[in-house]
Amino acid sequence: MIDSQGSAIHRILVLGGTTEASRLAQALAQAGVDGIFSYAGRTSAPIAQPLPTRVGGFGGVAGLQAFLQAERITQVVDATHPFAAQMSSNAVQACAAAGVPLLALERPAWQAQSGDVWQHVPDIAAAVQALPTEPASVFLAIGRQHLAPFLACAQHWYLLRLVDPVLDLPAERGQLVLDRGPFTLEGDRALLQAHGITHVVSKNSGGAGAQAKLTAARELGLPVILIARPFIPARTVVHSVNEVLRRIHGVSS
Ligand SMILES: NC(=O)c1ccc[n+]([C@@H]2O[C@H](COP(=O)([O-])OP(=O)(O)OC[C@H]3O[C@@H](n4cnc5c(N)ncnc54)[C@H](OP(=O)(O)O)[C@@H]3O)[C@@H](O)[C@H]2O)c1
Repeated sequence: MIDSQGSAIHRILVLGGTTEASRLAQALAQAGVDGIFSYAGRTSAPIAQPLPTRVGGFGGVAGLQAFLQAERITQVVDATHPFAAQMSSNAVQACAAAGVPLLALERPAWQAQSGDVWQHVPDIAAAVQALPTEPASVFLAIGRQHLAPFLACAQHWYLLRLVDPVLDLPAERGQLVLDRGPFTLEGDRALLQAHGITHVVSKNSGGAGAQAKLTAARELGLPVILIARPFIPARTVVHSVNEVLRRIHGVSS
């Protein structure tokens, strides 16, 4: 779309649920770019955004394609979490079908440093298998999904950190801490020590907000079971909000 001065009119759909998506929404609003922010609706009190916001699934690829067309979206920015593979795959297909360009704002994966004791595993099932057979105190830092296969290993005690109280955990099975990132090294070090954690299980989410637990684990010499990112079909990937702005609007903050 072009305005009367011959400039491109943008209407951006931001697929959110991450710190980066919130930063992008802020930057787009500041630059005066029209857009819609989309949440899956997983948390009870999502962070307010400076763009008009919708909540809930689109209804698969067809639903997203219809949404793009109905809302006259000119650009989709997929700023979902690297493990939100279904949404990201749907975005690739729906954008291709609707002829709408897609950019993914993605955090680089974490890389091991000297002193890290990391065991890389391909998925949740392999992470469960990687835990020892003898009882362990596990910081299960994987969010609210996929807890069941870990909790089925009855010999372990689990420390969970979640945004919402989505389950009851008997004291003998573990403890639930309600918190939302970003997390600090001091805080995560104290958490691991206070609960006598022996193993950390984490997704390789990347980014700064959840990295402190890995640094704390390194300092304390604790093993980390790191779950690899799921497959996402090929798309154009950028790593910063500024790069998104440059590509869609020729502006940077
Ligand atoms: N997975 C994680 O570890 C993780 C961590 C932190 C934050 N998050 C955030 O939590 C949300 C859900 O993650 P997930 O792993 O459950 O995703 P997912 O498995 O890839 O998505 C499942 C379905 O949820 C809906 N959905 C997901 N993200 C959406 C969004 N931003 N806007 C509207 N609908 C969305 C879509 O439903 P329809 O098919 O009906 O469109 C999608 O097919 C994402 O926004 C993600 O950024 C995820």
